[in-house]
Amino acid sequence: MTSAFLFNATIAGAAVAAAFQLGLMEELDRGNEVDIASYCVQHDLHLGCTFQIARALQCFKIAVLDVETLTLRQGTAFHEINEDRGYFIWLACGYGYALQNLGRLARNENRSADMDGRSLVKRDGQLVGMAAGEYGRRHVDQFFNSVFVPRNQQIIADLGCGSAARIIEIAQQNPHVKAIGVDCDSDVIKLAARNVDASGLGGRIELVCDDVTQLRFHPKFESVTTIFSFFMGHDLWPRRRCLAVLENLRSCFPIARRMLICDTYRSDLEPSAVPPVFTLGFELLHAVMRQDIPSCAEWMSLFGESGWECVDLHPIGIPYSAIFDLKRRM
Ligand SMILES: C[S@@+](CC[C@H](N)C(=O)[O-])C[C@H]1O[C@@H](n2cnc3c(N)ncnc32)[C@H](O)[C@@H]1O
Repeated sequence: MTSAFLFNATIAGAAVAAAFQLGLMEELDRGNEVDIASYCVQHDLHLGCTFQIARALQCFKIAVLDVETLTLRQGTAFHEINEDRGYFIWLACGYGYALQNLGRLARNENRSADMDGRSLVKRDGQLVGMAAGEYGRRHVDQFFNSVFVPRNQQIIADLGCGSAARIIEIAQQNPHVKAIGVDCDSDVIKLAARNVDASGLGGRIELVCDDVTQLRFHPKFESVTTIFSFFMGHDLWPRRRCLAVLENLRSCFPIARRMLICDTYRSDLEPSAVPPVFTLGFELLHAVMRQDIPSCAEWMSLFGESGWECVDLHPIGIPYSAIFDLKRRM
């Protein structure tokens, strides 16, 4: 490891996020050779800036840049990095402010007593939601689809629905299923509403802007039979609060028999070990937000005490992450 490698890798990570936002990763993924000059004209991009993004990709073999013809094509590392591109957006864009202010945010003096972690750390909820949708599509959906097959006429609820990508996909594939998405972030709900509108599924998908920790029974929850939640469960901790939320969900969704909680748990990796992609960022940023991340064993012990019995545990494609398959205790 050299300082040059570390410095350049930091830049390349941001370049991957930028290339994704500018549509370059998508172009390369289609196998296209990108003529950078005409791409910049077509998308109103600054040529010098786009060239440097391409050069950073080239340094890490994500793309091959021909400086004579100013063209870009896939490099040998493209496929792996492209599969993981959601993590780069999540880190560099969703949590860019936290990275920029890491030292300042570690100081207790910068946190007032009535401040929760979220208000301490500005994050871009829409980009975090979009990134979760992206890595979810690549590393979660295939596992989820084998665990959950909706029944005809079923009504489902997605707590912490983010961009609503998951309920849109379920509703598209199951024409008789209805869904309710709940999220506490009004910007995220706006993004979800745009996506639902664009999908034409407004008649079968409802969105509710509410905090799951404060949820009350609502008549529209009455017929929900399955609840699920992706990458929000850890936000409900510490333990006592999470336990109360799980209990309360029994009253909010009186006939729901099944709950699927998909989440990343604490790795407890030795500091010397090299963690896989995502883990180090996930644990660092939640510590910055003063958010406890439970280990897998802590989740299991909590379920043991809650009104939900964990009947199965399905690993997924994200490191240290699983779907906890829960059944209502009668
Ligand atoms: C990491 S994102 C995951 C989004 C989506 N489930 C997915 O997999 O793409 C977590 C989402 O949970 C939402 N969230 C966090 N705490 C919440 C709470 N107490 N009530 C409702 N939503 C919450 C956040 O606003 C965010 O949209």
